[in-house]
Amino acid sequence: MRIVTPDADALHSLGRAVGERLFHGAVVLLDGPLGAGKTTFAQGVAAGLGVRGVVPSPTYALVHEYDDGRIPLRHADVYRMEHPDELVSAGFAERVGVDGAWVVEWAGRFPNRWPPGHLAVTVEICGEGREVAFRATNSAHAGLLPPP
Ligand SMILES: Nc1ncnc2c1ncn2[C@@H]1O[C@H](COP(=O)(O)OP(=O)(O)O)[C@@H](O)[C@H]1O
Ligand SMILES: [Mg+2]
Repeated sequence: MRIVTPDADALHSLGRAVGERLFHGAVVLLDGPLGAGKTTFAQGVAAGLGVRGVVPSPTYALVHEYDDGRIPLRHADVYRMEHPDELVSAGFAERVGVDGAWVVEWAGRFPNRWPPGHLAVTVEICGEGREVAFRATNSAHAGLLPPP
């Protein structure tokens, strides 16, 4: 499924629709170039879960955890990780898909290191807007998508 969002608000709304449907154990893998809107989408997911307050980019912290929404949210960014072993040392390998719902920016840096059940979201810059492609690997994650 592909959706073109004309502006950042539309991309945020798309994230919110996913956040409203997010479930315990859900894994959302975000990819796309720097400035594409991965964090904007993740902020929408947080809003859809009812997370209050600011949701900054986790590039430097690796992960930010939000426990005030409908379900716990872990918003991670693996841009600065250099080796997949760091997913283990950071505790991600044992927590992703298990502990709350995870949204991971730059997940494509480490293909095949994520739970087999996930929703892959790719954001591409297209002119002024963004083209968002979704690929769910199972029916539970397909259920995260807003109706067309
Ligand atoms: N659909 C869109 N059209 C135009 N600009 C957008 C759109 N979505 C997001 N933006 C803008 O592009 C930037 C995306 O930044 P960010 O979400 O931090 O990207 P990333 O996390 O992928 O590096 C923001 O400045 C945002 O306002
Ligand atoms: Mg980002």
